[in-house]
Amino acid sequence: MNYTVVLPAAGSGKRMKADKNKLLLELFGKPIFLYTLDVFQQDPNCDAIWLAVKEQEQELIEDYVKRYNLTKVQGYATGGVERQDSVRACLEVIPPCGVVLVHDAARPFIDQKVIAQLAETAQQSGAAIAAVPVKDTIKKAENGVITETVDRNQLWMIQTPQAFRYSLILEAARIAHKDGFMGTDEAMLVERLNQPVAIVESTYENIKMTTPDDLIYGKAILESRLQEEQK
Ligand code: CTP
Ligand code: MG
Repeated sequence: MNYTVVLPAAGSGKRMKADKNKLLLELFGKPIFLYTLDVFQQDPNCDAIWLAVKEQEQELIEDYVKRYNLTKVQGYATGGVERQDSVRACLEVIPPCGVVLVHDAARPFIDQKVIAQLAETAQQSGAAIAAVPVKDTIKKAENGVITETVDRNQLWMIQTPQAFRYSLILEAARIAHKDGFMGTDEAMLVERLNQPVAIVESTYENIKMTTPDDLIYGKAILESRLQEEQK
């Protein structure tokens, strides 16, 4: 199933504690967001890439896109204060299409097979999101004392990509904006319209580069992939 991908890249990366947008930090000489863009540039099912960027970073990002010959990048939207605003800004400017994927520019290690399954499932059922089973035991606590151990079998750690029929996510984003509702992912905007959202099992490697330790893990992932290729 073909799709258009929207990549929010307009954050500031406060938790990374760098002196610039974390997406511009380099892994082996290449900025993080370019690894993410590469995945979609190389995916034959990806028709178009749209980026939400900070106004003052657009020129720099456009330069990289040209230099790395990322021909599928079709346009940019100016990001907003919150991630949800940045995603909505992109959704408002992309040409209508069948399926839209929303994916954090900060998740460079997404697997192409997972993308394919997400796009397929969203086309069939409206919405599908990447997730992995929770590994640890999860408990609820009040004032430092356990009140409940939650059944882990029902718990998923949610990632991006999140895939939707174009008309559904656009409507959900507009309604959330009108209602002043802020969700922590796109799926929440669709859930509140009582629309079903399917889970597609993803990989634990699909981390979001968030804190400095993620850079260490990210380099290790790249190294192990390089070794696999050389076998
Ligand atoms: N993002 C965005 N617009 C915002 C905030 C975030 O486009 N107003 C993007 C980020 O660039 C990132 C993705 O959304 O690719 C996921 O957000 P997150 O990991 O939280 O990145 P930051 O907001 O940049 O980091 P932090 O929360 O630590 O400041
Ligand atoms: Mg953030």
